[in-house]
Amino acid sequence: MLISIRSLRLSLRFIVPLVVALILLAYAVVPLVDKLTLRWFVRDMDIRSRLIGNTLQEPLAELLRQGNSDKINALLLRAIQDERLLALGFCGSDGTLRYHTTTFPEAIDCTSVTARKKGTIPLHQLPQGKVHVAVHTMMDEGAHSGDLVLIHDMSFVEIRSADTRKYVILLFALLGIVTSVITVFVAHLSWRGWMEGVRAMLRGEGLLKPFSQPAVASEFQPLVGDLRTLLRTLDSERRFADDATVTWSPDSLRKLLHKQLTGERVIVVSNREPYIHSHADGKIEVHRPASGLVTAVEPVMRACSGTWIAHGSGSADRETVDHHDRVQVPPENPEYTLRRIWLSPEEESGYYYGFANEGLWPLCHIAHVRPIFRSSDWLQYVAINQRFADAVIKEAASDDPVVLVQDYHFALLPAMIRQALPKATIITFWHIPWPNPESFGICPWREELLKGMLGSTILGFHTPYHCKNFLETVDRYLETRIEHESSTISRRGKLTLVESYPISIQWPPPWQETQPSVAACRAEIRAALGLSPEHKVGIGVDRQDYTKGILERFRAVEKMLELRPEMSEHFTFIQIAAPTRSALDDYQTFEDQVRNLAARINQRFARGNWQPICLKAQHHEPEIINQYFRAADVCMVTSLHDGMNLVAKEFVAARDDEQGVLVLSQFTGAAHELPEALIVNPYHIEQTAEALYQALTMADFEQRERMISMRALVRDFNVYRWAGRMLLDAARVRQREKLADRIGRES
Ligand code: F6P
Repeated sequence: MLISIRSLRLSLRFIVPLVVALILLAYAVVPLVDKLTLRWFVRDMDIRSRLIGNTLQEPLAELLRQGNSDKINALLLRAIQDERLLALGFCGSDGTLRYHTTTFPEAIDCTSVTARKKGTIPLHQLPQGKVHVAVHTMMDEGAHSGDLVLIHDMSFVEIRSADTRKYVILLFALLGIVTSVITVFVAHLSWRGWMEGVRAMLRGEGLLKPFSQPAVASEFQPLVGDLRTLLRTLDSERRFADDATVTWSPDSLRKLLHKQLTGERVIVVSNREPYIHSHADGKIEVHRPASGLVTAVEPVMRACSGTWIAHGSGSADRETVDHHDRVQVPPENPEYTLRRIWLSPEEESGYYYGFANEGLWPLCHIAHVRPIFRSSDWLQYVAINQRFADAVIKEAASDDPVVLVQDYHFALLPAMIRQALPKATIITFWHIPWPNPESFGICPWREELLKGMLGSTILGFHTPYHCKNFLETVDRYLETRIEHESSTISRRGKLTLVESYPISIQWPPPWQETQPSVAACRAEIRAALGLSPEHKVGIGVDRQDYTKGILERFRAVEKMLELRPEMSEHFTFIQIAAPTRSALDDYQTFEDQVRNLAARINQRFARGNWQPICLKAQHHEPEIINQYFRAADVCMVTSLHDGMNLVAKEFVAARDDEQGVLVLSQFTGAAHELPEALIVNPYHIEQTAEALYQALTMADFEQRERMISMRALVRDFNVYRWAGRMLLDAARVRQREKLADRIGRES
């Protein structure tokens, strides 16, 4: 409806007082109009009387000279045939009424009318009504012979005045109505423009340009600008207040979800599943994969509950699900649902190994490995994204679910979900770096990937630098509106907020209560390797991925032993290297390189039973890795490029004894948060070797200072904050969209 009841009510509030005011004004104006019209009529009568007087002058003078009374009376009688001329009389020069028509009022006498002063209004009030009395001086041969008194009926003036009053009031009322209708119409148009603007702004679109849309009336632009600034300020103040007041924990995350997202259960989508069931020795075993993503998202899921949709990759996964492909996890104490998606070997080969890991992975990491793009892989990638999107749609309990899409396996998923569930809140987190526009531009399906990602409500990266790269990439390859100030991209009326959310780990660590003491861990691990209690131990924990800088790390160990031969037999570097993506040539080659390099270095420096590098190329459960972290003197994270790297944070979290040194690559997201680590360029082998030596010889108090500061950061900026910040931003967007919809319905 063009004009709703609400705006009609608003309009009436304006129209009624305006019309009443105009009618009152009309009443005030009427006496003035009366006075004015009376003056016009009197002037009319004066002229008319003069005219009649002049006309009668000659015949009357002649008859007066003849003294013919009958003829004089007849002349006067004839003259008053005019409807307005009520009476005529002739006053002699002696002041007596000598001749008059029978209609001549008794109340009027010659003396009073002839003596009337000039300028006074010639009106007399008689019992039968108002009359106009004019006196025409009669001259005969140059001498005053008497006065002709002309009396006009003025009752018509009153009738006319009443008519005029009526018309004036009607005119004013009409004027009031027309004015208010025009005003209300114009105001309504402006109001609609304004409300459109406010709605767009609440949806975030208004943040994109300074309200130059034609829909927004120009006169409101300054106000809208202020409103935009106000919203931004409010947002940043709320974020600041959140950081200052919220202690991020599973509990606060649960409360947040309950309060801000009205208890929504979230749907998480990732390729890697958090629990893998496999056959081993005739039994079914469950284990947790070596995955930063799983490390981060699993505690969030336990805090929020909901459904996690992932690829069922374990050999016993099909046997452990129900007939909806669901299994409750964690197995020992179920808190959420894992929904498994099945892939054929061809599908896994094209979507996961091919497009995701031979294409996108090297594309996004600067590790000097060439991406490989095949059309057949792309088709599988599209098909599997659609399969996961269908699963999300099935699992959604409402038409506006909160969906957390994880990583580069699902760049197309956000737009696919959005198409089926336009009101969904889709938070996509990209766990790996985002390259610069030139690097990304070599992907043959760059536009499709970007369009897919822009189906997200919020798109998260680890660092502001990756956000900047993404905005620039979109700017280069797609037609969109980008506002850098608010870090938003608008495409086809849909807005995506691009924000950095540094990922982290669970705090306190899950094994806090049950883990062995640091002393016990040190003793156990040294004993297992046949090392003395004082022996220095370094640790590295990675998937065997060419981005992790494992070769550079080994070379740094080699260089350190070269430069500091006194460390021989006193230091061992343990590398836990979980096999990963072994079906790919690049990864097989890399595994060989790692093994060969470790063997060469060991051969070069080995003395007796001692070898500098202990390579453990198999999967280790997180609890065991935690014990290695506690046992080590130094942890080396030397990634050539890494979105965040959670191993660095896990090492810090493991060290409640506030000892141990972290050597950290400057090319990790973690380096931005942990400057107290010894920051190195892993390509610079001597520098890394020097840092390793510095770590091994660092005084306890310095280790403590650095570790206390890093632990405070990991404690406060834990994974609940990571998820909480994203969910809070999502809640704000949802609130604004709902408000915008309401305004849309009501305006
Ligand atoms: O960083 C990308 C990522 O998905 C991580 O979250 C995770 O640590 C790793 O890759 C796991 O890779 P995959 O699932 O291929 O073993």
